Amino acid sequence: MFSIEGNLLKAGMGAILAVMAGFPVCAQSLQERVPTCFECHGEKGQSQLPEVPSLGAQPALYTLVELVMFRDKLRLTEPMNQQTVGLSDGDLRALSDMIAKLPAPEPISDTPDPARMDRGRALAQANRCNFCHQSNYQGVENVPRLAGQREDYLLKSLRAYKDNTRRGYDAQMSEVVYAMKDDDLVDLAYFLARLK
Ligand code: HEC
Ligand code: HEC
Repeated sequence: MFSIEGNLLKAGMGAILAVMAGFPVCAQSLQERVPTCFECHGEKGQSQLPEVPSLGAQPALYTLVELVMFRDKLRLTEPMNQQTVGLSDGDLRALSDMIAKLPAPEPISDTPDPARMDRGRALAQANRCNFCHQSNYQGVENVPRLAGQREDYLLKSLRAYKDNTRRGYDAQMSEVVYAMKDDDLVDLAYFLARLK
C-alpha cells in the first residue's frame, strides 16, 4: 500500500507518477495505466470530456465497488470494461485510494436559473437524495459524491438506472428513479452540477 500526501493535490500528475515510481514490480501494469486514466478523467479530479465523470474526492469504497464491477463485467460500459482488464484487487484498491485524494470537482460556474435550482433542490429533498448521498452530496462509503459532478454524466446515469442499462451494486437507485419523470431527472442533474 502507499499513501499520497497533500502535495498531490497541487502537483497533479507529476506527483502521481512520483508515487507510482515507488511501486513494487508486480504493479508495473498499474503504473503504466494510471496516466491513461487521467487523460480521460482529468488530472486534478475534474473531467473536461463529455459524459466522462469527474472522479475527484469520490469516496474510495464507491470507486472500488465500481472498478470491480467494471472489471468483472457487472457494469457494462466501454471503455471501462477494457480499461480494467487484468487489474488485481490490490490495483483497484490503490486506484480508489488515489482517486479519493484528488480535489473535489468545481461546480458549473454559470449563473444558475433560480427557478430550476429550486425545483432541483425540492425534488432532491422530496426523494431523500440527501439522506443517502449526504447533506452536501459529498457521498460516503459506497454512496457516490454527486456535488459538482458533470451535468451530462449525472443525467446519463439517472436515465440509465431508470431504463436498467446501468446495473448498480444493489437496486437502491433503480427504486429511487422508478417513478420519476425525465423532466425531474433533467432538473436534478442541473441542480447537482451547480451545487456550491
Ligand atoms: C477513454 C476514456 C477513459 C479512460 C482511459 C478511463 N476511463 Fe474511466 N470512465 C470513462 C467513461 C466514459 C466512464 C463512464 C461510463 C458510463 O457512462 O457508464 C468512466 C467511468 C469511470 C468510473 C466510474 C465513476 C462513477 O462515478 O461511477 C471510474 C471509477 C473510472 N472510470 C475510473 C477509471 C480508471 C481508474 C481508469 C484507468 C485504469 C479509467 N477510468 C480510464 C472513460 C475513461
Ligand atoms: C437509499 C439510498 C439512496 C438514495 C435515496 C439515493 N441514492 Fe443515488 N446512489 C445510491 C447508491 C448506493 C449509489 C451507487 C449505486 C451503484 O452501484 O451504481 C447511487 C448512485 C447514484 C448516481 C450515480 C453517480 C455516479 O457517479 O455514477 C447518481 C447520479 C445518483 N445516485 C443520484 C441520486 C439522486 C438524484 C437521488 C434522489 C432523487 C438519489 N441518488 C437517491 C444510493 C441512494
